[in-house]
Amino acid sequence: MKKPSEYSPYEQLGGDAAVRKLVDRFYDLMDERKDAISIRAMHPNDLADSRDKLYEFLSGFFGGPPLYHQNRGHPKLRMRHLPFSIDEAARDAWLACMHQALEEQVDDQLLLMQLKTNFHKTAHHLINQKSDADMSEPTFILHPQLESDSTFITDLSLCSVRLINDSNYPWVVLVPRREGAIEVYKLDQADQQQLTLESEALCKAMEALFKPDKMNVAALGNMVPQLHIHHIARFKTDSAWPAPIWGVTHSTPYDQEAMQQRIKSIKDKL
Ligand code: HEM
Repeated sequence: MKKPSEYSPYEQLGGDAAVRKLVDRFYDLMDERKDAISIRAMHPNDLADSRDKLYEFLSGFFGGPPLYHQNRGHPKLRMRHLPFSIDEAARDAWLACMHQALEEQVDDQLLLMQLKTNFHKTAHHLINQKSDADMSEPTFILHPQLESDSTFITDLSLCSVRLINDSNYPWVVLVPRREGAIEVYKLDQADQQQLTLESEALCKAMEALFKPDKMNVAALGNMVPQLHIHHIARFKTDSAWPAPIWGVTHSTPYDQEAMQQRIKSIKDKL
């Protein structure tokens, strides 16, 4: 008997019919939504072929039968999107349609978060143009203290996930990529919800990997104001237990190999 986490997204969604339904709703939304007018214009008038291609692709993308591959060969998504001018605005319009279609169909919040994250990564990878807005919008810059204390693991849809370089504890921070963000309660509602889902996913990954006695989750920000949320796997045997970890033990940096292993294990579990 498989555990829920061992089912592919394809199985969790409901298989072939569910993928068809998602794609149909996605393209209906692209037809309807005002914020999708510019990406709708890139597509043929008749969306029948586009629907078939995306359905076949997503079947494999979700871990089901690789229909696109079987019927049309390697997807080469980036290359196939080069004829279209895709900037951040086009990416966001595409994702807005997909997010709405997913939200209408998927009740399992963890699955929803995973799917949104995977779509975000793929859509972002397809960007091939800089927009005017990209030039003028403030870009997110990681605080130098966080940059030096931690190493990149992966990007989720909202947060960067980073390993703190202290091998005394499995210690990971989530950093929402929102310029100027300092407090959780000042994020907009959608970001607050996304942060909760990403924090849950990280806690579950760390729990499965390290089997801690307690997960400590905290946002302090007294020293480094940029919003970052600590996720620390705590053990009754660790040197600071039961106190919070700050100021108790000197940090012990990882050696290169141990750090790479830890990063890989967390990334794979997310
Ligand atoms: C980032 C924003 C995106 C834009 C503006 C965009 C736009 C387009 C357009 C205009 C086409 C051609 C339609 C056709 O040939 O019928 C296309 C095809 C396709 N797109 Fe996208 N797309 C985006 C993101 C994505 C993402 C994230 C995925 C997958 C998760 C995806 C999967 C596909 C597939 C499988 C095809 C068919 C490729 C082929 O066989 O030629 N697209 N896309």
